[in-house]
Amino acid sequence: MARTIAVLTASDAGARGEREDTSGQILREGLAKVGEVVASRLEPDEVDRLEAVLREWVAQGISLIATTGGTGIGPRDVMPEATRRVIEREVPGIAEEMRRVSTAITPFGMLSRGVVGVAGRTLIINFPGAPKACRELLPVVVPILPHALDLLAGRTRHD
Ligand code: MTE
Repeated sequence: MARTIAVLTASDAGARGEREDTSGQILREGLAKVGEVVASRLEPDEVDRLEAVLREWVAQGISLIATTGGTGIGPRDVMPEATRRVIEREVPGIAEEMRRVSTAITPFGMLSRGVVGVAGRTLIINFPGAPKACRELLPVVVPILPHALDLLAGRTRHD
């Protein structure tokens, strides 16, 4: 079964057309080696809208949803809240490693509240919003994604 990927960007400025979705593009390019990027969306930082997009893609059985933006502590940063509404099980190890690597690069890595979890057969990963952060964190997750997505799809043979 082919792996499918969707990318969700949360950005008020992006949704108003005032900023290019560079981070979404970096995730699409960086994840193309893991599976086929079949959907991509840019939404304002509104928790109900973000939740609705996540639920739509989970219902479609998308293998991996990568989000970018809205993980900080600003009043409009709500991606972790939208993600928590949708996931059934957390995968803390992925989020912990992303934060560990980020914080080794910049102390501001501590300010990302990104969540990783599973909803149905979908893995959801929150990346921070900065293009630089997405570039730095792709190499952290890409190596474990094929095995993670195989496990999620019920393919458990270790050969
Ligand atoms: N992680 C990495 N690897 N590199 C970065 O430059 N920036 C941080 C942090 N994580 C950063 C990072 C900053 S400055 C913030 S405010 C938080 O991510 C949250 O960003 P977001 O609200 O755009 O998601």
